[in-house]
Amino acid sequence: MGLPLISSQSRKRDQVVAIDLGARVTKAVHVQRKGDKLHLANYAVLDTPQAGEPAAGTDTGSLADHLREVFRAIRGGRSRQVVLAIGVQDTLFRQIEAPLMPVADLRQMLKFNAKTYLQQDLPDYVFDCFYAPPRSLPKAADAPKTGGGAPKNKVMVGGIKRERLNALQAAVRGAGLVASQVIPSAAGPSNAFENAEPELFRGEATALVDVGFKHTTITIVDGGDLVLNRVVGIGGDRLTQGLSEALKVSYLEAENIKLGMPSEVKAELEPLIQPLGRELRASIDFFEHQQDKPIAQVLLSGGTARSEFILQSLQNELMVQCKTWNPAKNLQVALSEEETGELERVAPQLAVAIGASAAAL
Ligand SMILES: Nc1ncnc2c1ncn2[C@@H]1O[C@H](COP(=O)(O)OP(=O)(O)OP(=O)(O)O)[C@@H](O)[C@H]1O
Ligand SMILES: [Mg+2]
Repeated sequence: MGLPLISSQSRKRDQVVAIDLGARVTKAVHVQRKGDKLHLANYAVLDTPQAGEPAAGTDTGSLADHLREVFRAIRGGRSRQVVLAIGVQDTLFRQIEAPLMPVADLRQMLKFNAKTYLQQDLPDYVFDCFYAPPRSLPKAADAPKTGGGAPKNKVMVGGIKRERLNALQAAVRGAGLVASQVIPSAAGPSNAFENAEPELFRGEATALVDVGFKHTTITIVDGGDLVLNRVVGIGGDRLTQGLSEALKVSYLEAENIKLGMPSEVKAELEPLIQPLGRELRASIDFFEHQQDKPIAQVLLSGGTARSEFILQSLQNELMVQCKTWNPAKNLQVALSEEETGELERVAPQLAVAIGASAAAL
């Protein structure tokens, strides 16, 4: 399922570099279509320049430098096409219900009635929409009553601040690249999941949780439908900050402890994971009560999900099976043996980038 906020060409491409501009870490994948198979030609993981650093990605010039560096690291080959996944601080990703109408009209309608459809005024946003294909026939009880007006359709809505979109496009041009699409990163995990685990995607209700640096996203998919998408403002940064305060050590020391020996600071780390667990549990409870069915499992991605200790702590909090998943599972890999081993370790962190590439191919 693609949700491009901009699209320079409507035809599908045979290769693309997808870049997930995370708040802390930039993840990129170079994916090629060969026949009916998708190949992962290369991937790269680089720090995102932070505010205050000389190469901070906050202005167009330095973002262009960063994109150039990413492209060099990934050896993007002849393709200059990039897809960018942009985080929840600048984008939104929601499901709404709307009558069937041309997408151009729907975008206009959102522009002037954001408050009605998205519960907030978003005057400086650019929107894109995608009618979700009906996966199953509505149950008799759900059918519209006579005189109920036009039937409602499920629509995925992506939005990005116009200013940010303009700056991104200028930076991509400055790096000598072509932005073929920009998508909200919150759409990434479900996009990747549909390709990596098509049977699970169409199967029982599953929660996809991406724990990043500043934010965590939870997406619930049920029988091929996206039923819930929520953002929680807690990520790896909060855990490191909390550890740094509890242990009275620097942020860097706390980060190293979190990465290297989390079980030794169990007493300090677990209470920091609990609030995230509670927020995620609230979303799961909401779904379970509304749909009257359980969530079969929670599948984790994002950098923080690389920690077995954090994964176990979340499982204790959520009381549902939690595990990581491999978004690269159905991609053919043309990497050296060493890179393939490393890929297995990194894969959960690539979910958004892989999902963004799937939107373009
Ligand atoms: N092995 C690990 N154990 C615990 N945390 C880890 C591990 N590896 C990475 N992290 C954490 O993952 C976070 C970065 O994850 P990720 O790359 O998903 O974030 P991001 O995409 O940059 O952020 P956001 O999604 O909020 O924009 C950092 O806080 C880092 O400490
Ligand atoms: Mg992220």
